[in-house]
Amino acid sequence: MTQIVVTGKIPTAGLEVLRSAGFAPKAWSQDVAMTREELLQQVKGAEILVTLLTEKIDNELLGAAGAQLKAVCNVAVGYNNIDVAACKSRGVTVTNTPGVLTDATADIALALILMVTRRLAEGERVIRSKQAWQWGMHYMLGSGITNRILGVVGMGAIGIATARRAKACGMSVIYYSRSEIDSKIANELGAKKVSFDELLSESDVVSIHCPSNESTHHLFGSAQFKKMKNDAFLINTARGPIVDEQALVEALSTREIAGAGLDVFEFEPKINDGLLDRDDVVLIPHLGSATTETRNAMAMLAANNAVEIANGRSALTPVS
Ligand code: DGY
Repeated sequence: MTQIVVTGKIPTAGLEVLRSAGFAPKAWSQDVAMTREELLQQVKGAEILVTLLTEKIDNELLGAAGAQLKAVCNVAVGYNNIDVAACKSRGVTVTNTPGVLTDATADIALALILMVTRRLAEGERVIRSKQAWQWGMHYMLGSGITNRILGVVGMGAIGIATARRAKACGMSVIYYSRSEIDSKIANELGAKKVSFDELLSESDVVSIHCPSNESTHHLFGSAQFKKMKNDAFLINTARGPIVDEQALVEALSTREIAGAGLDVFEFEPKINDGLLDRDDVVLIPHLGSATTETRNAMAMLAANNAVEIANGRSALTPVS
């Protein structure tokens, strides 16, 4: 029987997929993640790994697993934790979980847009800290988003879903993307494709939805913040390393941009100290896909990929 190792605690729905297909997965069941040493031990002899985005799947780990390893099925749409080239050179298939977390993540992007532009987290902090406050014509004014421009960086499924939500709130949409989007969707959204520089200079809110890889590492740095409007906001629900976090802190301090809503961080779970005391940033702990139904669906899709591969069929959602 194919040896399947699940390296982190995943929803039971995912394990059930594996068990009902006749496999007996070796699954980590503790809430606390394995240490690297434990991980290197656990993967030994595995033919298929079901992994979480917090686990680095690199040459060392692939070597520790052994030459029989056939596939790494990540329980995430992003796969920057995996050295895909190293997997490829060893003939190891990599899969991810696109589609099932699109709406949940777009909801969080919209939530961050509203939270940061309307100062919602800041307002809540006032109340919770029992500070005196009173309604006033000039009290805690934010920026409305109606008739403002959303600039989407990376117009894949999550970018499109975020654009739809923003449009429903009265925003117009421009986007920068390597790939073309379906003209029907572009028309429905009234979305205009622009260059990266145009997107930076025209957007009132920039929302990042591209993958994290070598070409997008620090796509946002001081030069890009300087090109943005001083009253613009940056939203990141994709991956932390796409933004140079220190440059972001500096851009906020010098008022190059007005604020940021972040679900992901460059050195996650560590947060740059310069962000922590700022009222113009909203910080949430990587909650993009964090709904029960979404996490079940992610685990089930990863497990179904494992089942297909274990049975000698093609992966459902291979990344390459
Ligand atoms: C993903 O799937 O890449 C998300 O970041 C998980 O929340």
